[in-house]
Amino acid sequence: MKHLIDLTEWTKPELEKVFNYALAMKAHPEADFKPLKGKSVALYFEKPSLRTRVSFDIGIQELGGNTTVVEQFMAGIGTRESVHDVAHTLNGFVDAMVCRMFNHTVLHELRQWSDMTIINALTDFSHPCQIMADVLTLKELGLWKEGLVMTWVGDPNNVLQSWLEMALFYPITINISSPDIPTEFESWFQNPAMKDRIFWIHDPKEAVSVADMVYVDTWISMGQEAEAEARLEKYKDYSVNKELSGFMPEHAVMLHCLPAKRGQEVDEYTMEKFKSVIFRESENRLHVQKAIMAYLLSPVETEAFYQEHAVKY
Ligand code: CP
Ligand code: NVA
Repeated sequence: MKHLIDLTEWTKPELEKVFNYALAMKAHPEADFKPLKGKSVALYFEKPSLRTRVSFDIGIQELGGNTTVVEQFMAGIGTRESVHDVAHTLNGFVDAMVCRMFNHTVLHELRQWSDMTIINALTDFSHPCQIMADVLTLKELGLWKEGLVMTWVGDPNNVLQSWLEMALFYPITINISSPDIPTEFESWFQNPAMKDRIFWIHDPKEAVSVADMVYVDTWISMGQEAEAEARLEKYKDYSVNKELSGFMPEHAVMLHCLPAKRGQEVDEYTMEKFKSVIFRESENRLHVQKAIMAYLLSPVETEAFYQEHAVKY
């Protein structure tokens, strides 16, 4: 059974298929495609969410499926009962489980006992659905090309992890502009697959000035609230504000996975300047996740839909 835990478990043809499906489904709402008819999906959240929760919930309904939201305090995975018993119970109720969790290892454990398709909706480690929506957005805008230079500015985190995993499949360059490189990211600099395609550029002005795309995320990810003061201090020179974004080339765009803390990692001016890209990126969570679920849960029907509704981009 195929899951979406990390992009490294997928292949490039599978990713391309999902991007194609997403574009076809987005372009053809009138087709009323219902590949999840008769299927149920549980949405499990240990952390807050706006985009992920709403886009999965609506997406499942649009595909003809049923959703049920499972709150952490209700299910108590690993506290009220074991991961194993939760998996066995839900196996009897639902076809898939979309999970936003703190601990990535628990997601792997859940998969081990699961007859359900497991989809990673963000963990402390990674956020694959977000990056798939980001790539879809760049494709739509005609910016997704070989040799694309992306500059990550700020805290190297779970979103960057999934971007690096995506970069294993596509020949893009990733610059990381941050005060230091956390130990968990060091191995990427030794990874032969990323040779001459990953750089640490300490100076954010230099880093954004060579970018086709600048990527920004919060400096305080969910679960790091106790470190807020130290993090605000650490990253204060890495705010993509009016001055810093002025160093971006004319053609470059900025993406932000949201939620944004205006006045911290980005300012009002820069958010407003790139808001059409950023909110397209946000909307594309819906379209790419519909494609992911259709592919994982009804691959034959989805391929048949695509053969009739393929779009060029
Ligand atoms: N980008 C993202 O995952 O947003 P939410 O935390 O609101 O789901
Ligand atoms: N890095 C952020 C992403 C939010 C979508 C977090 O984990 O909170």
